[in-house]
Amino acid sequence: MRKVLITGANGQLGSRLSELVLPDEASVVVCDRKLLDVTNSASIQEALDKFEPEVVINAAAYTAVDRAEEEAELARAVNSSGVGHLARICSAKGIDLIHVSTDYVFSGDQNEPYRTNDAPAPTGVYGDSKWEGEKAISEAFLGATQSQFWIFRVAWLYDSRGQNFAQTMLRLGASGKALKIVDDQLGAPTAAGPLASMLMEVAQDPKLLNPGMWHYGTLGPATWYDFAMAIFAHKKMDVDATPCGSDAYPTPAKRPAYSYLDPHPLMQALGRSPQHWKDQMQQVL
Ligand SMILES: NC(=O)c1ccc[n+]([C@@H]2O[C@H](COP(=O)([O-])OP(=O)(O)OC[C@H]3O[C@@H](n4cnc5c(N)ncnc54)[C@H](OP(=O)(O)O)[C@@H]3O)[C@@H](O)[C@H]2O)c1
Repeated sequence: MRKVLITGANGQLGSRLSELVLPDEASVVVCDRKLLDVTNSASIQEALDKFEPEVVINAAAYTAVDRAEEEAELARAVNSSGVGHLARICSAKGIDLIHVSTDYVFSGDQNEPYRTNDAPAPTGVYGDSKWEGEKAISEAFLGATQSQFWIFRVAWLYDSRGQNFAQTMLRLGASGKALKIVDDQLGAPTAAGPLASMLMEVAQDPKLLNPGMWHYGTLGPATWYDFAMAIFAHKKMDVDATPCGSDAYPTPAKRPAYSYLDPHPLMQALGRSPQHWKDQMQQVL
């Protein structure tokens, strides 16, 4: 077993990673923000010195897309410079780094699946901070011979618990109120659990996948309205829901109209078929 350190262990993805049952439990070190604060180089150094992992999975992030417009400094401290600190320290210590990024690095103006060689053009602080983080990792590992990095961009992450779109729909659907749900944004709902399992597989067997940038996701696309209606049907909930445009819900940060990340190259490299978002939702919820 390779020794893995997980950052951001209390988050949606981090908690799924932390719960994965591995044959050798001593191989996994779970760090919340108190144990490892990515904005603080000394804290990173201390945690990596103490636990001596062979690979770090970075699930720590500032993810409040709208609040980031007002808290740009904090968003950048975590997602850009924080990721840079982590990457430089990992690279210097010969530790592999697995990092998670987002569809928000793209403008969403495209109308065909985003591939890893499409040019990022974030429209808000969150997306920009994540893109800066991606670039900081590439720079930190430039010329590294003892370690390597993987970045997995994902979109529309949800889980059977916590705060995410699926849980919001289940709560609102149960309230009996009439709902208006956005039908002009396209993406593919992606569950945190299967993503966590794939990240851990790569952490344990780095030969599984060439290092670099990958897009992870399900087969789609769908709109938020499609996703909500599929959840209601799956849960046999009779909800009065109508589709609406994004303009019905003005937000400080612009939402990408098109967020569908092409999952095929990654799945091909892993020798698997991508799962349809609806099948995955039925398993997860
Ligand atoms: N959620 C989505 O829809 C979505 C979509 C695309 C991509 N992503 C990406 O997927 C990854 C995981 O997202 P998620 O949904 O699991 O996010 P999340 O639930 O917000 O979890 C992020 C975690 O990072 C921790 N954190 C924040 N600042 C930190 C710091 N300075 N040092 C260490 N830890 C810190 C948070 O700690 P506290 O608990 O103490 O706040 C939290 O536990 C992120 O990289 C995100 O950008 C998410």
